[in-house]
Amino acid sequence: MRKLSASILSADFGRLADEVRAVEAAGTDWIHVDVMDGHFVPNITIGPDVVRALRKVTHLPFDVHLMIEKPERTLEAFVDAGADWLGVHVETCPHLHRTIQNIKELGAKAIVTLNPATPLVSIEDILPDVDMVLIMTVNPGFGGQKFIDGALPKIRKCRQWIDERKCSALLEVDGGVNSDTIDGLVAAGVDVFVAGSAVFNGGDYVKNIKVLKDRM
Ligand code: DX5
Ligand code: ZN
Repeated sequence: MRKLSASILSADFGRLADEVRAVEAAGTDWIHVDVMDGHFVPNITIGPDVVRALRKVTHLPFDVHLMIEKPERTLEAFVDAGADWLGVHVETCPHLHRTIQNIKELGAKAIVTLNPATPLVSIEDILPDVDMVLIMTVNPGFGGQKFIDGALPKIRKCRQWIDERKCSALLEVDGGVNSDTIDGLVAAGVDVFVAGSAVFNGGDYVKNIKVLKDRM
């Protein structure tokens, strides 16, 4: 049941369609799309038109991670473009309940995401309403960063909350997931593992994905 979501942030952006086909053939379960606006995070990446173009090359679920201010303005565009799972950061959503309901009304699965310094209590009330919680294990904005060990207690606590409260939410992590960190994440009860550089670096996607999936 555990899933690997390959983050195309670490792919060759000049050959994105081929890269998506290649990681699908290599065995990833989902495609993770990092959307950055240059405001909430320093980097700028992908918009709905790119998601729409990639939608034509794979049937794998798209797990779209919005690292943008005022995400409520673009939910419809991303779902229309082909996002199956759509995630917003709690730090960007003053009306989080409304935003999560909007994502679900649009027909996508709703993800709430927390930065490393954001306490779990900030999503306590929305937990029964979301389809997945994404706990960042790096500060968002770039691939290839070092895993923040201090995120592990939060991940364990979130697993405990989901189980105790009988919520249906999956638990996802993003940032620094690799062969050194994945065992601790499995033990902490993670369901969905986002990996960018651990999938794409070195170019042997079959081997890279096998290394991760053998431990999941
Ligand atoms: C970071 C992104 C991640 C990134 C992870 O802001 O949200 O999805 O691609 O990259 P790695 O796996 O290299 O840490
Ligand atoms: Zn991401």
